Amino acid sequence: MSAKIISGTETAKAIREELKVEVAELKEKHDVVPGLVTILVGEDPASQSYVAAKNKTAHALGIHSEQVTLDVDTSEEDLLALVKKYNDDAQINGILVQLPLPKHINEGKVLDAIDPTKDVDGFHPVNVGKMVLGEQCFLPCTPHGILELLTRAGVETSGAEVVIVGRSNIVGKPIANLMLQKRDAGNATITLCHTRTKDMTAHLKRADIIIAAVGVANMITADQVKDGVVVIDVGVNRVGVSKTGKAILAGDVDFDAVKEKAAAITPVPGGVGPMTITMLMKNTVQAARQANGL
Ligand code: GUN
Repeated sequence: MSAKIISGTETAKAIREELKVEVAELKEKHDVVPGLVTILVGEDPASQSYVAAKNKTAHALGIHSEQVTLDVDTSEEDLLALVKKYNDDAQINGILVQLPLPKHINEGKVLDAIDPTKDVDGFHPVNVGKMVLGEQCFLPCTPHGILELLTRAGVETSGAEVVIVGRSNIVGKPIANLMLQKRDAGNATITLCHTRTKDMTAHLKRADIIIAAVGVANMITADQVKDGVVVIDVGVNRVGVSKTGKAILAGDVDFDAVKEKAAAITPVPGGVGPMTITMLMKNTVQAARQANGL
């Protein structure tokens, strides 16, 4: 059996079409144009390409988008001042500081400085707290994208054994929290594995749904999963460079082998990645609505 491919590209396209209509309506009926600023510190090539993709998508949807690129030596103080400037800028509804930041900058301090009502990444402690409590808030974009993919692909999560690999603040911890809640793509039984997990394979073999977010290319192999598993692969690992100079990407899951056992699987690229960007746009539109009492 070869797995159904859950296409993030296609799902993201459908949601973007919905958003495009919503953005046009906001402009026409309320004269509101959602505004996003992305702030990148340094020249990490992966971060550069993510930020460029976010801005390109925003423009395509009619969202006002500003990109600020700062020198790698920028001080924490200067970055905090810039965040404050955008907190006070009425044209900007969403502020995204691309992570990771250079080591001399305290990431927590910068995320804390973002106005929670403009925190379209959902990383501010206020939004994280509300998310854990199941209250209305900005959901972090990658976990939000995973929930949408599971829902729109018709994957049953209620009562399912979900094994998440990776305990990051951006993916592992929030998706674990969200999928145990009483909500769409929720009500699951969660196991969260990490580098100190004793027998990862034993957990993976039990899983009805695997969510891999570790950042190690092809780490999860076909002999570690059961027949009929659903696999969401969050990994984006650069494993080489093509003749045309483009990065060759691989997920955390050995796609070619695992797809022969799985019921459904997301590809890399074209899986979770496009969904993350799309949910950022959704959050930005939501922020603009809230800022204008709509
Ligand atoms: N770095 C990797 N993923 C993300 C993300 O979703 N948001 C931000 N701000 N930085 C990231």
